[in-house]
Amino acid sequence: MEHKKITLLPGDGIGQEVTRSAVQVMKAAAQFSGIEFEFQECLMGGCSYDAHGIPLTDETLQVCFNSDAVFLGAVGGYKWETLPHHLKPEAALLKLRKELGLYTNIRPAKVYEPLIDASTLKRSVVAGVDFVVLRELTGGIYFGTPRGMTAESGWNTMVYAKEEVERIARMGFEIARKRNGRVTSVDKANVLEVSQFWRNVVHEVHKDYQDVQLSDMYVDNAAMQIVRDPKQFDVLLTSNLFGDILSDIAGMITGSLGMLPSASIGAKYSLYEPVHGSAPDIAGQKKANPLAAISSVAMMFAYTFNLKKTSDLIESAIDKTLADGLRTPDIFSEGCKLVTTDEMTDAVIGNLNKVL
Ligand code: IPM
Ligand code: MG
Repeated sequence: MEHKKITLLPGDGIGQEVTRSAVQVMKAAAQFSGIEFEFQECLMGGCSYDAHGIPLTDETLQVCFNSDAVFLGAVGGYKWETLPHHLKPEAALLKLRKELGLYTNIRPAKVYEPLIDASTLKRSVVAGVDFVVLRELTGGIYFGTPRGMTAESGWNTMVYAKEEVERIARMGFEIARKRNGRVTSVDKANVLEVSQFWRNVVHEVHKDYQDVQLSDMYVDNAAMQIVRDPKQFDVLLTSNLFGDILSDIAGMITGSLGMLPSASIGAKYSLYEPVHGSAPDIAGQKKANPLAAISSVAMMFAYTFNLKKTSDLIESAIDKTLADGLRTPDIFSEGCKLVTTDEMTDAVIGNLNKVL
């Protein structure tokens, strides 16, 4: 029996509810994968600010450093929106990514067949979509200096060092090799020097990956193409800011942000988190869709524990549950069965036990 330590950071709003679902699925999946989990829960985000006056404490960070993987629910809420920048829950998330060195963010945009009609796009455009947004997560304009604001002006710096681009590019080509062998690198090289630099470095790294097909695309065009013909993409390689924006667009084609998982991976640590936010408007009402959190657990089994088979089984259990017609309110449509967060979770676990 392998022993793995998981740090749980449920965070705020529905983060609490979906983390509970994730834990139940982890426990269920652990039973047949020869893993034994030990969980330690810590505060992060608005709840940490309320308790300690800062959104991420050194103690919480320390617990993360000592674990095999971190699971994060969601952070933020109206309550903390007016705090100064460095005390906002979002600042904790950025600090966590930086401290854990999580430079790769993987956000799959996969369409679940039973949900195609929940998309705002036509079935013919959406059916069969399966790509990943591979977002650089610890550099670029999110962290560049100088940055600041006065009464007269505000400024940020978009900067990339060579090794930052190299390592994410390598990751992009490696992932493409295991998928359909195509990388689209996104930039704004027609206007920004930092983007021309990005493009040059990506092409340099590509020399080691001649079996992977590389193309470049301007970010504005990429935004348009994701909506026009999303099936053309396999791996979309992006800088931090461009990936933030494009992954939201990619999320919507699949019907609901409530369905999207993510993995953030560095040289030593990894963190899994649903892409959706803390949704304070529905928090505590049993309405949260736990599937993005559960799918994030599937990614954890694949990427941190190298148990692709377990990962696939969790994904199949999600497919089956959707095929059975169960829906939380965000993905509900005529003729389906409206269920709560817990009912959805129990159904997935029931199906997981069946596919075993
Ligand atoms: C995301 C979010 C975060 C980001 C915010 C909450 C800081 O939008 O993970 O995409 O911009 O990275
Ligand atoms: Mg975002």
